[in-house]
Amino acid sequence: MENKKIKVITYGTFDLLHRGHVRLLERARALGDYLIVGITADDYDKTRGKFNVEQSLMERIEAVRSTGLADEIIIEEYEGQKIDDVKRYGIDIFTVGSDWTGKFDYIQEFCKVVYLDRTEGISSSEIRTQKNLLKIGLVGEISVLDKFYKECSFVNGICVTAVCSQRKSVVEKYARKNLLSTDDYSRFLNEVDAVYVVSHPNQHYAHVKEALSAGKHVICESPIAMKKEEIDELTALAKEKGLILFDAIKTAYATAFNRLCLLIKTGIIGEVISIDATCTSLIDEADIDRDTWSSICGWGPIALLPILQILGTDYIKKNRFSVYSQTIDGFDLFTKITLEYKNAIASAKVGNGVKSEGELVISGTKGYIYVPAPWWKTDYFEVRFENAQNNKRYFYTLDGEGIRYEILAFLKSIETAKNHSYIAESLSRAIVEIVSDKT
Ligand code: CTP
Repeated sequence: MENKKIKVITYGTFDLLHRGHVRLLERARALGDYLIVGITADDYDKTRGKFNVEQSLMERIEAVRSTGLADEIIIEEYEGQKIDDVKRYGIDIFTVGSDWTGKFDYIQEFCKVVYLDRTEGISSSEIRTQKNLLKIGLVGEISVLDKFYKECSFVNGICVTAVCSQRKSVVEKYARKNLLSTDDYSRFLNEVDAVYVVSHPNQHYAHVKEALSAGKHVICESPIAMKKEEIDELTALAKEKGLILFDAIKTAYATAFNRLCLLIKTGIIGEVISIDATCTSLIDEADIDRDTWSSICGWGPIALLPILQILGTDYIKKNRFSVYSQTIDGFDLFTKITLEYKNAIASAKVGNGVKSEGELVISGTKGYIYVPAPWWKTDYFEVRFENAQNNKRYFYTLDGEGIRYEILAFLKSIETAKNHSYIAESLSRAIVEIVSDKT
């Protein structure tokens, strides 16, 4: 009787294939007669917190295939799949590197589990980090700076080396970390290759211009400037210098929001006729100071994002209603903007000092999409129809409110000298135009 073939299975991301991977595959193969390699799908990697994989699934598959060590390659798409695979393929030995020791003992119920010694001194993360270490500096006064700082730590290849702020408490806080913390912008610029601008919108133009002039790439919280001519000038300057100028709106990078936009393009709710986006937060008027962003600057770009992304920037008519603070000149506590298109209408309702339900409703001729509050950082939405039985719910993971992917897209733009922003130049410009026009 012919001896039964011993089937071995192993899993991994295999990004930027290195000798550690090859050695593991060789030893895995030597454990039996037939080796199946499970390669993680991009989405699955994201759900398990590995989101800065550089190569596409196809490139990673090709790299493993070219080693000639795998008899069969499969794709790992969901949590719990390993048990399914072991049963389905009649696996005798499950193996992975020793960094996973103990983690897959639950598979022993189905086959033998072997942890192979990991090769010392090499990993995909290290290669990614060495390839492109970008020194970034953060400038600004508000707490979004802290969030961005934290999110940088999740991305390989970027390192915060300096912070600049007019707020003493911010300077003191970052001085305690191992980086330059100062209120001197020129000194700060010397320490970095790129700048994240989250200073007050009135200062964006000056900060961005100085950074670009000094040869630094820029990622700036929207709105990039407070005048149309200014954003045009900055865009031209970036192009002339061969630098990246990147508009930062984290929601654009949140998976749920992204998928929602794609889904609408498939016609799932028919023609889009109306979009209503609301973003508000409460603040005591007494707490408003020169660093506080008014509602139109703080929330406007986010509320306008789905409108301009889905209906485009060619609106026919704009209307604005604002309620201003009694104490701070020009500070809108509340603004409602309506944009009329040829066959559609949209409203963006924003408040900093006025509270409302922060939902997003996109109405179409076949149904509508409902995103519950706070829609700008959601992992979930619903597509609803006349017959509620046809309603569908969509769930995703939200990593770092989208900021992580935003940073990755910025890094990729610098690396490839091509803008990979999800926000088109025309959209950035329309935002500046709408936000700055008080009529
Ligand atoms: N592996 C190994 N020796 C290394 C690196 C990886 O034996 N120096 C093994 C892992 O233990 C795993 C397989 O190779 O069984 C695939 O690992 P993967 O996570 O894709 O590679 P890493 O280099 O560890 O990737 P990262 O740095 O992104 O975690």
